[in-house]
Amino acid sequence: MDFETVEVTTDLLIVGGGMTAAGAAVESAYWAKKNGLKVVLVDKAAFDRSGAVAMGLSAINQYVNYGKGVNTIEDYVHYVRQDLMGICREDLVYNIARHVDSTVHLFEKWGLPIWTDEEGNYVNEGRWQIMINGESYKVIVAEAAKNAMAEAGGEIYERVFIAHPLMSADGSRIAGAVGFSTRENKFYIFKAKAVICAMGGAVHVFKPRSTGEGLGRSWYAPFNSGSSTYFTVQAGAEMTCQEVRFIPIRFKDAYGPVGAWFLLFKSKAISAGGGDYMVNRRDDLADWEPYASTKPLPANLRNHAGLLDVNDGLGPLYMETHEAIANLAEEYKDDKKAFKKKMKELDSEAWEDFLDMTISQAILWAAQNISPDVEHSEIMACEPYFIGSHSGASGAWVSGPPDLKGKGEIPDEWFWEDVGNMTTVTGLFAAGDASGASSHKFSSGSNSEGRYAGKQAVKWIMANNSLPEVNQADVDAATEKVLKPLKVFEEHCGLTTDPDINPNYIKPQQFMFRLQKIMDEYAGGVSSAFKTSKDLLERGLELMVFLHEDSKKLGANSLYELERCWENMHRMWQAEAHLRTLLFREETRWPGYYFRTDMPKMDQENWLAFANCVYDPKNDSWEMKKVPVKQLID
Ligand code: FAD
Ligand code: ADX
Repeated sequence: MDFETVEVTTDLLIVGGGMTAAGAAVESAYWAKKNGLKVVLVDKAAFDRSGAVAMGLSAINQYVNYGKGVNTIEDYVHYVRQDLMGICREDLVYNIARHVDSTVHLFEKWGLPIWTDEEGNYVNEGRWQIMINGESYKVIVAEAAKNAMAEAGGEIYERVFIAHPLMSADGSRIAGAVGFSTRENKFYIFKAKAVICAMGGAVHVFKPRSTGEGLGRSWYAPFNSGSSTYFTVQAGAEMTCQEVRFIPIRFKDAYGPVGAWFLLFKSKAISAGGGDYMVNRRDDLADWEPYASTKPLPANLRNHAGLLDVNDGLGPLYMETHEAIANLAEEYKDDKKAFKKKMKELDSEAWEDFLDMTISQAILWAAQNISPDVEHSEIMACEPYFIGSHSGASGAWVSGPPDLKGKGEIPDEWFWEDVGNMTTVTGLFAAGDASGASSHKFSSGSNSEGRYAGKQAVKWIMANNSLPEVNQADVDAATEKVLKPLKVFEEHCGLTTDPDINPNYIKPQQFMFRLQKIMDEYAGGVSSAFKTSKDLLERGLELMVFLHEDSKKLGANSLYELERCWENMHRMWQAEAHLRTLLFREETRWPGYYFRTDMPKMDQENWLAFANCVYDPKNDSWEMKKVPVKQLID
């Protein structure tokens, strides 16, 4: 295939077009316009409906509400510290929490309908979560970003897949990115002074529960395939919390959210044979004190309690929806009309929760004749995902906000270049799912962190206003590497009658299955009941060597398959970082996310620490680092 080469030069490049990138675009466009700079944003999909919020959401999960004195920023830091079993960058969490409310107010100004009560206050789902009519959430947020970019003369490239970072000639800083159009034969070379990486997390690294006709159905957005991790790892950035994957408990098979059920409807989850597992399994959580005594119980411990029942053969697990609805309607019992009205209201809220964000769950309920007010529904732990913005924590290690330097125990070396959210690679920023150890930012916090990174990146460019030199030989090598699967296929496809089966190449889907099998069986996937060990991990890493070898023989018959090849290449590197970090951390800190059977307990003395890793692309080697946790507040 012949490709047209398109070269784009800019001051700031934003890779990704999700909640984070939208925030980065709004803020950087504003500051860029003031300073005469150019901003370019590149999304592999259509900005309006890309990323994890594509389908819409039914709640904003981070709203601190400190303006009215309801909560403090410190309360939020405590919450995240506890939920992540003590491991979080408190400076980063604090920074997001202090900005998030203003972001939510902007969403409302831009037209997002947020539920309010009779007094005009937002309706809380839980302490930190507020309810929205969020089917068009992403469209609204993207529109604001598009307007800001248009105002500042910025450019947005949609349906361009970012495959690889571009480094400066001397390798000392980021210089841009390369990618290709998913619709036309165009190869893109983006050159920039600074880059913000915001390409979300990763799904389908592990074998999914859904197979056959359901293949591809997952909780996490199928569009996010580990590009943030690949981009930052290949640029040589230090990564953190690569072991802290997220396993959500969801309504079984269609992956409907549970938050509204637990928090808004105050529902209970049970196992068929064991009852209320979060209460009955309390004693089994004693090894994870002090976190097991916190309220709410950390997400992974909630999972662990349920999985203990499943492992004892006491399943299925159920959400007691009918009981919750009955409890909420109880006080209206004596007034027939009011009771009927309340039941109707609860019924529509229950369905809307799914229709706003996981339509397939509503379809599955309909298909299985489930009325939530009549009977309970099955729930189950999903396969693992990488989503540092939610209740996982994987991402790049970034600089702390300069104004927090010297505060609490936070060491000075966590601050560099006098800007926040820069990775350890000069000029490369990361936010949202792409930045690590700062979980529970969700949609609103990711947008806030994106806004912050956007402003910081412009500030940094103003202090370092030069376009890095790039070697044409590096550009040519990257182009050849990225387009290679098309060449491999073209050269060899005539050799067999079925082009999917060929000794000279592997198609991306088969490659993905092989990756998923390794991760499922050796890194504690669904089939292994989330259990792994040193021996299993070491064997998994041996098998990864062969997968890396085979990745050089990926074959693509079209642009579509070229995208699939690169998605899987990105997944493979996310998997590699995960395996190595699971092996490095010698304890079990997050049972319910994964369990090291050879080290089944938490070791506070030695492992109240971040597990960081750095890949050196020049020597093709990894370095693992233990970084002690430091607190910003008591
Ligand atoms: P995303 O918003 O996922 O954006 C990633 C972007 O990167 C997309 O534009 C994608 O197209 C682009 N991209 C990926 N790879 C490439 C590539 N190679 N080249 C170019 N572009 C690329 N939060 C809440 O507040 N409330 C909720 O109710 C809620 N529910 C959720 C339900 C689900 C199922 C999920 C998965 C998440 C939910 N969240 C919720 C969390 C929220 O969606 C995320 O925190 C947020 O979207 C993270 O923002 P991000 O920009 O980092 O990633
Ligand atoms: S969502 O991203 O798909 O909406 P989910 O529905 O699990 O996630 O949770 C939404 C919010 O509720 C998150 O902030 C999550 O941490 C919180 N949450 C979910 N279940 C519980 C629970 N049992 N106790 C406390 N918080 C919970």
